[in-house]
Amino acid sequence: MIVSIIGSQWGDEGKGKVTDFYAEKSDIVVRFQGGNNAGHTIVVGDKVYKFHLMPSGAVHKKSLVLGNGVVIDPKILIEEIERLKKDGFNPDISISDRANIIMPYHKILDGIEEKMKGALAAGTTMKGIGPCYSDKISRFGIRFSDLLDIDVFREKLNLIIPIKQKIFNAFGEDAKLDIDSIFNEYLTYRDYLKKYIKDTSVFLNNAYDKGNVILMEGAQGTHLDIDHGIYPFTTSSNTNAGGICTGTGVSPKKIDKIVGITKAYTSRVGEGPFPAELCNSEGKYIQSKGKEFGTTTGRPRRCGWLDLVLVNYACLINNFSALAITKIDVLSGMKKVKICYAYDYNGEILYNFPSNMNLLAKCKPIYKEFDGWEEIDWKKIKDINSLPENIFKYIRYIEELTKTPICMISFGPKRDETLILKDIFRGV
Ligand code: IMP
Repeated sequence: MIVSIIGSQWGDEGKGKVTDFYAEKSDIVVRFQGGNNAGHTIVVGDKVYKFHLMPSGAVHKKSLVLGNGVVIDPKILIEEIERLKKDGFNPDISISDRANIIMPYHKILDGIEEKMKGALAAGTTMKGIGPCYSDKISRFGIRFSDLLDIDVFREKLNLIIPIKQKIFNAFGEDAKLDIDSIFNEYLTYRDYLKKYIKDTSVFLNNAYDKGNVILMEGAQGTHLDIDHGIYPFTTSSNTNAGGICTGTGVSPKKIDKIVGITKAYTSRVGEGPFPAELCNSEGKYIQSKGKEFGTTTGRPRRCGWLDLVLVNYACLINNFSALAITKIDVLSGMKKVKICYAYDYNGEILYNFPSNMNLLAKCKPIYKEFDGWEEIDWKKIKDINSLPENIFKYIRYIEELTKTPICMISFGPKRDETLILKDIFRGV
């Protein structure tokens, strides 16, 4: 069985916790896109784990896979493996031999390109993600299978590095790329990682045939998708459910469940239009109560009301089996809460998320207002009927507008701060 988890907003929906929750019931947890631009926080008891590359199932001692669609910075991966080992885990990880490798010049190019783009800069995480995917698409990439073959690796470096150096020079970048030192540095990574490198498509399809439960863990969110996000303020991979197939080599016919993760409000890191943004004390309240600061960059996240135009588009693209609503507790204590259900574009009412960023920037949110709820003792919430009436109305409205059942409500980072409404491994 294959279950997958996809962000329905702009990332940071709380996928790490939900993945961790479902990972307990899975045999294998897989990352299929993105790289160490992601930041997943897992809280187990009093211990907080932050991962960038490692699938969130790491702390369950599950089998972990980094699929071919992931771009991997080997230095970061080794650091995460070492950190897990120090905490008593010995990660059983498989790295796709087809996955592309983030090289030192990708990180430098990320900075150069962002500077060149001016107002069109996405505000990237500067981890080299975009330049690595660009090289993959233009067939200048280096894959793990190349790293295993010293001659091919050297040949590729001899070809690529002088080209990158010319680009640096053209843009006045001082950095000097030294082929020998990059070659030697990456050979040490190869020596460390080679036992983990394999054909993960074969591994995953065999595991599926044997009846294993496989959890596909999306990074970022649907609206950062390179095709379906608000381009160019996106990341460089397919963050939607379609990315699972291209990023793992598993057929769409094998995916049983797709769970959309929706935060009870909206947040966004980086640049780009954001109609339901709250540039006021309510936005600050949500930001500080929700600890909305990037796991990867530490940047403050822009916050706003829940935007169902945004979420509905994600429902359309992904056809979610169910939604998991996260961080509902953050809205406690607000007198009124709002949900954006449509946009007003120069008097025209839009229910579909537009693709044009200039048009989106001119959209005004149209809200439905709800009475808020007081801080509550979440320990007393054992089922849907014990939810305060105003939360119940808020949740039901989301379900009604998205036409998607809600399977989980999360009201805190810990595993037990979760209300399960539907078992995605059985019903839904
Ligand atoms: P990149 O993925 O580093 O190229 O950044 C491109 C855009 O995606 C920027 O606006 C980033 O802030 C955003 N982004 C990338 N990864 C994440 C994430 O995990 N959560 C939220 N935003 C992200």
